[in-house]
Amino acid sequence: MITREIQLTTQIAGVPSREHFTVVEAEIDGEVLVRTDHLGLAATYLELMRSDCHLPVPAWQPNQRIGVMAIGTVLRSADPDLHEGDLVQSMSGWSTHSAGPATSYVKLDRDAYPDPTYHLGQGPTAYYGMADVAKVGPGDVVFVSGAAGGVGSLAGQIARNMGASKVIGSAGSQAKVDYLVGELGFDAAFDYHQDPVAALTELAPEGITVFFDTVGGTLYEAALAVAVPGARFASCGSLSTQLGAAAQRFPEPDRAAAAAKRIELLPFSCHHTPDQIAAWHSHFRTWLDQNTFVFPQTVVEAGIDAVPDAFLSLLRGDYRGNVSVRLT
Ligand SMILES: NC(=O)c1ccc[n+]([C@@H]2O[C@H](COP(=O)([O-])OP(=O)(O)OC[C@H]3O[C@@H](n4cnc5c(N)ncnc54)[C@H](OP(=O)(O)O)[C@@H]3O)[C@@H](O)[C@H]2O)c1
Repeated sequence: MITREIQLTTQIAGVPSREHFTVVEAEIDGEVLVRTDHLGLAATYLELMRSDCHLPVPAWQPNQRIGVMAIGTVLRSADPDLHEGDLVQSMSGWSTHSAGPATSYVKLDRDAYPDPTYHLGQGPTAYYGMADVAKVGPGDVVFVSGAAGGVGSLAGQIARNMGASKVIGSAGSQAKVDYLVGELGFDAAFDYHQDPVAALTELAPEGITVFFDTVGGTLYEAALAVAVPGARFASCGSLSTQLGAAAQRFPEPDRAAAAAKRIELLPFSCHHTPDQIAAWHSHFRTWLDQNTFVFPQTVVEAGIDAVPDAFLSLLRGDYRGNVSVRLT
């Protein structure tokens, strides 16, 4: 079987562009053969493409398929537990087809969600960060930065479902601000191109008790300015500096100002352990059944050759929610 796949041409040192990706045809064979139907896209992948990757997993190498989460349909199987037509998830990545041992594939329940893309969301990170790290609960006043992104759009809804009294989000355009309040049930939102301290002071005069940060930089500083003493800051990502060199991508937060307010600085890394995945899916299903949760997503319909462009569009902020490509 010939598959068409995307490889890294070279590891990325500066700003990513189309030249960093190559389309390759390759012969594949294995115990199980799968047609890829859906691919996940997320800003985190950029870090894995860098020569100075700072994640606790190996960086992706040139001339290898980009190995991200994918969902597909079994076309052929020599394993007794996987059958033609089964829906499976794997790390088979940006390719039209994959093949390998049955142990590389996890069978999914086609009826668990309205669409298989629901399996590709950033829920384990959002749930772990909001429930286990920030320990959000009744009465919390929560600010989520990057709230229209994959993690943030889930984190804000998780906070509301866990009893927060107010959930505020920031995003990069008025359309995304309207989306957060009108469709995802945030109590308030603002465009971070405005003065974030002024916006937060107006929207949360009582002060914030929880900050779920996927952006860093000026939004971290603004959260610090309006936080009540003892607030919890769950530090998830640094979208505002993601295009910089390593030292700029992970700037030192102002610890002295945080200490003066006794802020609990809680940087975390979600490793998607089986427990974290199970905790997310159990709550996600419950909240969907109760109609208190929307799965925020953008599904890009594209062929495999267009996946790098879709990834670059994601980094520019062209999409909202959890982003996946439905291969056409
Ligand atoms: N700690 C962990 O375990 C963990 C796990 C997963 C992800 N992460 C990190 O969490 C962060 C969010 O991930 P994600 O998947 O939610 O991201 P994402 O949805 O893939 O991010 C895309 C969004 O980033 C926003 N963005 C781009 N440039 C920005 C800027 N200069 N300032 C603010 N926002 C900007 C854009 O939204 P706007 O249009 O609103 O600007 C865009 O829609 C990333 O840094 C990721 O690496 C951490």
